[in-house]
Amino acid sequence: MDVIQFQEYGSWHDSLTKNDLNVAAQNLEQGKVLYFPALSFELQDTEDRLLSPDCLKPPSKNISFDFRSGILKGSMHESPLALNLIEMLKRFSEHSLKLIEGVLPHYCSQLSVGRTSYRPAEISGRTSSYRKDDTRLHVDAFPSAPNQGHRILRVFSNINPHGQSRVWRLGEPFEEVARQFLPRIRKPLFGSSALLKALNITKSRRTPYDHYMLRMHDLMKGDLDYQIKAHQCVFQFPPNSTWIVMTDHVSHAAMAGQYVLEQTFYLPVSGMLNENLSPLRILERMTGCNLV
Ligand code: SIN
Ligand code: FE
Repeated sequence: MDVIQFQEYGSWHDSLTKNDLNVAAQNLEQGKVLYFPALSFELQDTEDRLLSPDCLKPPSKNISFDFRSGILKGSMHESPLALNLIEMLKRFSEHSLKLIEGVLPHYCSQLSVGRTSYRPAEISGRTSSYRKDDTRLHVDAFPSAPNQGHRILRVFSNINPHGQSRVWRLGEPFEEVARQFLPRIRKPLFGSSALLKALNITKSRRTPYDHYMLRMHDLMKGDLDYQIKAHQCVFQFPPNSTWIVMTDHVSHAAMAGQYVLEQTFYLPVSGMLNENLSPLRILERMTGCNLV
């Protein structure tokens, strides 16, 4: 099973028993989803009006907030909803950090907090270029934001008020994905990462690791045969549930659903229980090269 369930975990301030702490971290690092069916993110009265895709500034599909810069993206900053949105995103971010402290406490000393996002648009039927199409199986890698081997750890909560689940497909283990796509990827061109940085196309240096991850992301999404034939299962995350997943490692696709909150964290591989399970170390073993 690709999903490990923590049925009893019902509050953002809970913590797991010692035995469950090991179960959680080991399973997460092996590419499983940690699923909390009874952990729900409650909206405040004034926040009900945020349950509308009208919060989005077209053509954005998500709203995101970055605490370090205070920048809200994807929504009208001047809109009266902006303060409400920021408040909700801040609270979700604080709750997510509490959840990580309760479930994966040994990550906390090395964890950094990334963006918080709100996804108020229905996914199914949405059109986009194949690279941006998250209904296709992929591992997360972002062209303008190289993460240089750090793990991408994400907390999601479904806040849908109409009983609608977030429907995901979960694909093959990372090693299996890499085994199929790595042979199709050329080595990065010498000097290309400095050029991308100099041209401000990337925010930081695109390492060989980022190059391989990005090519894998694009090749997976671009291969329709693979999308159908890859070993996969469907999982539905109902409203009022929460899940944690390392999206750089777990092949995933979001097929349907509306109104989800997400918090991103970054973790250096040295912060893992077993860094040999990271995409960085797996790709280094497979290519025989240092990639960061
Ligand atoms: C994704 O990370 O590909 C999308 C997940 C979601 O919005 O449910
Ligand atoms: Fe993704």
